[in-house]
Amino acid sequence: MALKRVMVLTGGGDCPGLNAVIRGIVKRASLEKDWEVIGCIESFNGVLREPTEIVELNDKSVEGILSQGGTILGTTNKGGPFAWPIKQQDGSWTTVDRSDEMLRKLQYMGVDAVINIGGDGSQRISLGLSKKGLNIVGVPKTIDNDLSMTDYTFGFQTAVQICTESIDKLKTTAASHNRVFIMEVMGRDAGWIALHSAIAGGADVCVIPEIPYDIEKIKAKIESCYNKRRGYCIIVVAEGAKGKDGQVVGTKTNEVGYQHIKLGGIAETLAAELKEAGVEQDIRCTILGHLQRGGTPIAFDRVLASEFGVRAMEFVIEGRFGQMVAYHHPDIVGVPLEEAVREQNLLSAESRLVHTAKGLGIALGD
Ligand code: F6P
Repeated sequence: MALKRVMVLTGGGDCPGLNAVIRGIVKRASLEKDWEVIGCIESFNGVLREPTEIVELNDKSVEGILSQGGTILGTTNKGGPFAWPIKQQDGSWTTVDRSDEMLRKLQYMGVDAVINIGGDGSQRISLGLSKKGLNIVGVPKTIDNDLSMTDYTFGFQTAVQICTESIDKLKTTAASHNRVFIMEVMGRDAGWIALHSAIAGGADVCVIPEIPYDIEKIKAKIESCYNKRRGYCIIVVAEGAKGKDGQVVGTKTNEVGYQHIKLGGIAETLAAELKEAGVEQDIRCTILGHLQRGGTPIAFDRVLASEFGVRAMEFVIEGRFGQMVAYHHPDIVGVPLEEAVREQNLLSAESRLVHTAKGLGIALGD
């Protein structure tokens, strides 16, 4: 009997738990007699490159990767089959649609199904390819937790853990020097990492993209921290929070195929605004950056990633394509890719988490 072939790939920014998903897929597939698994290197680039970069995945190749951060397949958040960057004669770059060529290649390679592990950008690519007839299943990944059709994406809780431990550390130095610390965390347009870690770490202020801040309100909270119990203040700010002018702080990058603004720097902007508003205390900024994405996934993410991997492979076996596996507590379900990418999962000012933060006396700047 000819073996059926499923191709696995990881796309977008790396995230703790990617390897656990790959392992889950391979282990589940190995229980079947008629499926083999291959991995595509660096998202879809491995298929589009000449020669192709494809690896065989089996029980041996996933040995020991459950606890390993990053992705053994490599990843990219630039370009893709629908927007492949090419250099023009005058040296400038443009993009071309190579999706049809890629689908022909996949057919030639005998690929019966694809599992695409990635965030919103990757799942939009999954949807586009599904519409063109590819048998594809999506797996939701991102530390930002900004995919709306799943309770959690894997990687998010690990990032929150890292941020929480960082607040614990900053507190002791802040208290020793009577300082204000502003800790900037990732999350793009969503404040999930910031608010979860601010609550878990016992921060005093949390600034998120979904709630515009008034600098005077933050200043008032700092003053109350110094007047009351102790002389320090911990502020957590999400990288996508908007400054006074309503603009995000970041830089436009000229990296080829990179479609986002590189967010970063709101902590320094906030510090300058606080000084301008008359805050006299020493202020220090800490930008956690990619530390939030590196290293080993915590147990919660290993479990969720493993569940996603096993279910994604079962969807392939059952022929349930055009779906993204999703966590709807207590089940792992399938949601149509179309719905999975329809809207971002952002915090609402009325949400339970915001209510809890306010109940704990955390100032959100509103
Ligand atoms: O989407 C995940 C994420 O880590 C965001 O939180 C962050 O803004 C972005 O990726 C950083 O991307 P890069 O690795 O390209 O700098």
